[in-house]
Amino acid sequence: MGAVSGITTLGQFIIARQKDFPYAKGELSRLLRDISIAAKIVNREVNKAGLVDILGEMGLMNVQGESVKKLDVFANEQFISALSYGGECCGIASEENEHIVGIHSEISKYANYVVAIDPLDGSSNIDVNAPIGTIFSIYRRVSPYGPAQLCDFMQKGTEQVAAGYVMYGSSTMLVYTTGKGVNGFTLDPSIGEFCLTHPDMVIPQMGNIYSINEGNYKFFPEGVKRYIKYCQIEDEETNRPYSSRYIGSLAADFHRNLIKGGIYMYPATAYSAKGKLRLLYECNPLAFIVEQAGGKASDGFQRILDIDPYALHERTPLFIGSHDMVEMVEGMMLEYSSRVD
Ligand code: AHG
Ligand code: MN
Ligand code: MN
Repeated sequence: MGAVSGITTLGQFIIARQKDFPYAKGELSRLLRDISIAAKIVNREVNKAGLVDILGEMGLMNVQGESVKKLDVFANEQFISALSYGGECCGIASEENEHIVGIHSEISKYANYVVAIDPLDGSSNIDVNAPIGTIFSIYRRVSPYGPAQLCDFMQKGTEQVAAGYVMYGSSTMLVYTTGKGVNGFTLDPSIGEFCLTHPDMVIPQMGNIYSINEGNYKFFPEGVKRYIKYCQIEDEETNRPYSSRYIGSLAADFHRNLIKGGIYMYPATAYSAKGKLRLLYECNPLAFIVEQAGGKASDGFQRILDIDPYALHERTPLFIGSHDMVEMVEGMMLEYSSRVD
């Protein structure tokens, strides 16, 4: 791999890894390639967002009732079009579409995969040039043929065959797993290729960063309040107080904690019993990645990947990151869940 230049591109890596799946016909590899091409196009637009009239709100609401920015729409179109014409995907569930987008073309009729996607994550950061991302999850279809059906997406996270995210930051990275470890690639804009820069990523078992929107403190469950206080107490032996870091882009916050060690939390709040984040295209893919990197992802009481989905856009509380940190907050959730203060 990469013998000529000393670098390994994402394309080379995907082909080399095909041997991990002896019966595979290269379909998943082609699907990942399609996603990476769309990601490069989105990256191009993200980079010039400050220069053209693509910034700002469109004045529409998405199915979640949140305002949609122009780049959300653009990114959604790019991924849907790359997946529709690639021939390996029979349907897409996107944050930006209320219903699944079934692919009706002749070549996609027997496609084996469906993709759930948050095309642009952290969209409130677009206007201020802060990092944003794309998060995706790939399942093998369960319906027999034709355009995808809802049942293809109503699978537990444990059934994912691949998942990844792209982070459009100071440099652009694509990180993904197919269940055999996690690998990270950085886009070299001079050659237009994602290059392997972070092979076999492992999240530290313990970290000293906690990431949460503390403005909502008042509305958090008691267990979360106790854990935040724990993070803030001075204790030399356990390296506390921890640092608080919160960008407000899940993909970017997750990425930092994956590399440095830490925990990201979006709990239930007094006004939203299931928090904010979406199970299918935000929590499950990152949960798959974090587990593959040796970390943990929980809704406070159970493993994210074990949740049986019932709706396309359902939400779940999320605690994700270094194994021992997630385990501790789970302990506090359990201890204080029945108490009312
Ligand atoms: P999206 O832009 O796809 O709607 O996702 C935004 C999400 C997530 O990226 C981020 O961590 C979280 O919302 C931030 O929410 P708060 O502003 O409530 O902290
Ligand atoms: Mn999002
Ligand atoms: Mn989004």
